[in-house]
Amino acid sequence: MPIYPPAEDSYLMSRILKEQIPHLIKQNPDARFLEIGAGSGIHLQTALSLGIKNENIFSSDIDKRAVSHCNMLGFRCIHSDLFENIRNNYDILVFNPPYLPSDSREPKSSKIATTAGKKGNEIILRFLQQAKSHLNKNGKIFLITSSLSEDVDFSSLGYLAKEIGCEKLFFERLCIWELKKDL
Ligand SMILES: C[S@@+](CC[C@H](N)C(=O)[O-])C[C@H]1O[C@@H](n2cnc3c(N)ncnc32)[C@H](O)[C@@H]1O
Repeated sequence: MPIYPPAEDSYLMSRILKEQIPHLIKQNPDARFLEIGAGSGIHLQTALSLGIKNENIFSSDIDKRAVSHCNMLGFRCIHSDLFENIRNNYDILVFNPPYLPSDSREPKSSKIATTAGKKGNEIILRFLQQAKSHLNKNGKIFLITSSLSEDVDFSSLGYLAKEIGCEKLFFERLCIWELKKDL
């Protein structure tokens, strides 16, 4: 499979970022933005078009092809498994993660972008455990979950969570969560 091409989940995230980022920039014109799993770079382009300064846009992917692609688009993108190679803290963290439970019918080549493990929430849980130490005090995380994977107990991981946009597809419901550190 090529780099994950923008799909329904990407477009839902795009729509939410277009609603939310203008307010966040108003409060903090120097907001630092990090996307984990940037893929095609769709959200990096959205962030730039909404006024986040290019020098404040950072990204990563575990897929080296996505890293090269985003670099070619002019964005800073590094190879990293979640926060492994990420330093510093950010005001806006975005992740459209692999959120599906394993399915033997899924081709190996697309699993890296779509599948998290037996329950479907394994990568999200790892992400949330690591994200807290890279999020500024008033920072926000925008994260997608799917009804096909096991629920995540955000509060037990130390987050205040608000569902801010959902979309019903014919076989699943996707939701975007806005998360803040529960200080
Ligand atoms: C569902 S795709 C989303 C791509 C793009 N952000 C979008 O919304 O269209 C998930 C992306 O996360 C990347 N990814 C998967 N596991 C990762 C990990 N452990 N660390 C960093 N990136 C990861 C995949 O390579 C893929 O590009």
